[in-house]
Amino acid sequence: MEELDGKVAIVTGGGSLAAGIGNGRAAAVRLAESGARVVIVDIADRNMAETQELIAERGGECLSVRGDVSLPDDCAAIVRRAVETWGRVDVLVNNVGVAGPPGTAVDVDLDAWDACLRVNVTSMMLMSRFAIPRMRAVGGGSIVNLSSAAGLIGGHPSLAYSTAKGAIVNLTRSMAAAHGPDGIRVNAVAPGYMYTPNVYAQGLSEDDRERRRLAAPLRTEGTGWDVGEAVLFLAGGRSRWITGVVLPVDAGLTSALAVPDSMTVQSPRPH
Ligand SMILES: NC(=O)c1ccc[n+]([C@@H]2O[C@H](COP(=O)([O-])OP(=O)(O)OC[C@H]3O[C@@H](n4cnc5c(N)ncnc54)[C@H](O)[C@@H]3O)[C@@H](O)[C@H]2O)c1
Repeated sequence: MEELDGKVAIVTGGGSLAAGIGNGRAAAVRLAESGARVVIVDIADRNMAETQELIAERGGECLSVRGDVSLPDDCAAIVRRAVETWGRVDVLVNNVGVAGPPGTAVDVDLDAWDACLRVNVTSMMLMSRFAIPRMRAVGGGSIVNLSSAAGLIGGHPSLAYSTAKGAIVNLTRSMAAAHGPDGIRVNAVAPGYMYTPNVYAQGLSEDDRERRRLAAPLRTEGTGWDVGEAVLFLAGGRSRWITGVVLPVDAGLTSALAVPDSMTVQSPRPH
């Protein structure tokens, strides 16, 4: 598959906190396998090493750039490095996302709330601010934002995280409307309970892993590769007529309402 030959893609959070396949790592590898030259961005150098190795093993090309996407100067420098190295930017995957502080409106820490919105949402606007002029310069592009099932429905223990992920939904639609006339598509992926390094590095018991698997209708565990595949589809030309969508990659989690049998109201029997 050479659908992205000659294209340059930036993947923020292209590393992972631990060994294994995170969403950003999978997206970077799949884009590189499909012909794109990939700029991997991460706040920590060590997190990017495994992504670089996986891309090299598959014969792909990548450049690792350390940067904090919540800082405008870093975002500008990341895009500049991409253009200095490979002359263009076609794809931006805004993958960085961090767990928010716990708590409801009554007790959430205000500084932690602000930091969560800054890293999860503002960073996507900032990276886009610098990438979009480069996409316009080459006649178009594709932006893929990482939301979450937690941005589509309530019930998450962190109000800050679900608020941030919900904001990404309408950031995506609003940007799709604003930049469509320039040939720039903007879509989002909303992962469910993926089994990724950031999740298991925090200590996930086998019981919890099984509960997560059984929570969604398909009853199958998802990995970063499932997200990477969706990102690749939305980034590349096979989705050329798709913009402003939010694609759940969640084994059906957000499509199902879990109602215990005991609460089901039966329709009255017809006479
Ligand atoms: N893993 C899941 O189950 C899951 C579920 C729903 C949504 N998501 C979303 O998917 C995305 C990727 O999640 P993941 O868990 O696979 O992580 P990941 O493995 O893709 O790793 C994210 C990387 O981002 C880096 N990072 C953090 N803050 C940064 C910053 N300010 N600047 C630059 N880099 C930074 C980290 O160092 C880490 O290496 C996130 O937006 C997350 O909210 C994940």
